[in-house]
Amino acid sequence: MNSPLLQNTIVIGMQWGDEGKGKIIDWLAQDAQAVIRFQGGHNAGHTITTLRKKLILHLIPSGALNPECQCVIGNGVVLSLQALNTEMAMLKENNIDLAERLHISLNCPLLLPSHEVLDKASDSIGTTLRGIGPAYEDKVARRGLRVGDLLDEKFFCQKASDLLDYHNFLINHYYHQKPVTPNRVIDTCLNLSEKILPLLCDVAMRLHEWHTNKKRLLFEGAQGVLLDIDHGSYPFVTSSNTVAGNAAIGTGFSPLQFNQVIGVCKAYTTRVGEGPFPTEEHNTEGEILRQKGEEVGATTGRQRRCGWLDLFTLRRMVLINSITEIMLTKLDVLDSFAEIPVCIDYSADKTPHYINLPGWQIMTHAVNRYNDLPTQARGYIEYIEDFIGVPITVVSTGKIREHIIVRHSDPYLAAEDQR
Ligand code: IMP
Repeated sequence: MNSPLLQNTIVIGMQWGDEGKGKIIDWLAQDAQAVIRFQGGHNAGHTITTLRKKLILHLIPSGALNPECQCVIGNGVVLSLQALNTEMAMLKENNIDLAERLHISLNCPLLLPSHEVLDKASDSIGTTLRGIGPAYEDKVARRGLRVGDLLDEKFFCQKASDLLDYHNFLINHYYHQKPVTPNRVIDTCLNLSEKILPLLCDVAMRLHEWHTNKKRLLFEGAQGVLLDIDHGSYPFVTSSNTVAGNAAIGTGFSPLQFNQVIGVCKAYTTRVGEGPFPTEEHNTEGEILRQKGEEVGATTGRQRRCGWLDLFTLRRMVLINSITEIMLTKLDVLDSFAEIPVCIDYSADKTPHYINLPGWQIMTHAVNRYNDLPTQARGYIEYIEDFIGVPITVVSTGKIREHIIVRHSDPYLAAEDQR
């Protein structure tokens, strides 16, 4: 494999999530010594398809399938013990044992079953209902529990009891729903923590040590930049910072040490949940994208909304995230269109302006050499990179690792591809 991975690389989604980060990170992880999650929780759904199976990871980093790769959950991730245990068991059933290579920050906020109840009771934007927002609320309000609190059982029980009283007050008196049973929640946490406690560590220091030993670290973003709590389509966003800048905050790794920021971008756009989506297509073209792209949410099974690529917004996000290169996914989903609109501007009333690029109407599925793509498909790729000002170094043309085109690291000089 010939990936363009540098030493400390951040990989993030450039749209509303579901860009295919799981596939790209699994592929890049063949060259990395560690993959580190830095935000979000089990709201993420990173799908990895191999010749033999399809695995969906929610909390565990997408390096899990590579036996040499360490998997790290940084302090920015809200951690559900239940979800983590279920996922570790699922991987074990698939002969993937993480016991020796999973590292979890002592400072991860704990996501409790009562957070899920609160999320379900309060949701107004179409969340994944996993309790993510309420868990981050407790973190910021400084009343939340951290995974490290489990090391002192007495302290944990007292703090958990106070927090659950507060949750139950909201659940009962504000949302008029059935409260949780505090003792049951606490006992479940203590039971589930057994396997987790040996994995806790000071992630920041471990990453610095690995960096000093010249290990290649891959920081795995979840969701996408348009779901960022500050820079996304507020209030229709997730509750964490999904932008590249959070890779330092969510792990404790030095901001000066990152030297590559890869943006994973779908060749069109999708969104799950509510909120603005100016390039959405409510017609047969949207339906073709949904069918061909199998656009169903990996976490919730909801149908994804579909539409065209928004280059105007993509260019803005390239700047906000210091994107050094784009990896473009699902190009083959566009195969049947005679023309492919891309948004290049907006009018004052926020109506998108499109330019129609020529389609190729030839199958590109599984193509793995740039020059084997039809001229129009190459034209589409090159139009995007000219517009946004950064190279597209990798193009994905199918689900498995082998369905990938690696271009020269500087596509403007892509001599190899021109042959
Ligand atoms: P939450 O993250 O569950 O609070 O959901 C907030 C918004 O983010 C909703 O619109 C969700 O559909 C969306 N969201 C959260 N995680 C993902 C993801 O992994 N992919 C796509 N959308 C997501």
